Amino acid sequence: MPDLPPVPSIITDLDQNVQSVLSRIADVSDTAALDALESETLGKSGLIVSARKAIGEVSPTERKLVGMAVQESRTSIEQALADRRQFLAQGERALRLQSERMDLTEVIGTPSVGHIHPLTQAWEELEDTFIGMGFRVAEGPHVETDWHNFDALNIPKGHPARDAFDSLYVNNGEPGSTVLRTHTSPVQIRTMLEQEPPIYIVAPGRVFRRDTADATHLPVFHQLEGLVVDRNIGLADLAGTIESFTKAFFGEGFTSRLRPNYFPFTEPSAEFDIQRPDGSWLELGGCGVVHPNVLKAGGIDPEEWSGFAFGFGIDRFLSIKNGVDDIRDAFTNDIRFLQQF
Ligand code: PHE
Repeated sequence: MPDLPPVPSIITDLDQNVQSVLSRIADVSDTAALDALESETLGKSGLIVSARKAIGEVSPTERKLVGMAVQESRTSIEQALADRRQFLAQGERALRLQSERMDLTEVIGTPSVGHIHPLTQAWEELEDTFIGMGFRVAEGPHVETDWHNFDALNIPKGHPARDAFDSLYVNNGEPGSTVLRTHTSPVQIRTMLEQEPPIYIVAPGRVFRRDTADATHLPVFHQLEGLVVDRNIGLADLAGTIESFTKAFFGEGFTSRLRPNYFPFTEPSAEFDIQRPDGSWLELGGCGVVHPNVLKAGGIDPEEWSGFAFGFGIDRFLSIKNGVDDIRDAFTNDIRFLQQF
């Protein structure tokens, strides 16, 4: 049996170097270090390139053997690099996912479906009640002309009632000519100008006053306006409508009463209260027989038609129906508060 030719030392050296490179590759813990190791070993001054240069120095008989060894070394290093790279990439991706992960435990921990805000619930229940009584829902803009908000409602410039409204004016046109509506009553005017009697509408909506927020006041709040214009409408129709509404909305155990009051846009005017089953009275809003000047401003002949109007705050219903002590709680969007309704 012939002796095997001795393995050229260049090959044994190469094998050793490759082994050490392979174990370094296995130890690398991030892709940046792997890139560095790749250019160190496969780059211009790396061991593969210098081994390849050495091929020229060995004897022609060994040349093929050495060439194959260099090629194998290169392949095994490349393979090891690729394997390690894939392994690291998976780990880095997992790490990144971990660090970018959002903490949804609070949400997941309390699975819950959103629901309609208690104010909107009250608003919709009120609309439903009035629709059931034969009313239609009307709307008007939040930004109003001073004319719709005041003059047309029999509150001319200089009228003391204007001061009571703490208006927020908008910088538009003549100073004082544009206002954030201080009540939903301008919708009375807009409706009368838009449609012929008979009119049976309610207008729920947002209103604005220069008020400081406290437990019972907000500078932005909500009202529901009602307007009826038909033939021979009087105070008795108003009282009857308020009473029907009270029973339909709050329940059979509730009743209502009117107390004399003053509003420039109604004559006579009244405050209406409701009585709870326990006998306690609660002030709800204002109302009255529509003033002839208001009908005229709305283009309606007061000799032929008459009507009544009422308006009350919707936000107060939250306190009345749900026992909310501080109305501000309803609008801070604290989910713990809102979830109760
Ligand atoms: N607009 C009045 C207010 O905001 C309420 C009201 C409406 C009174 C309609 C009478 C008739 O206080």
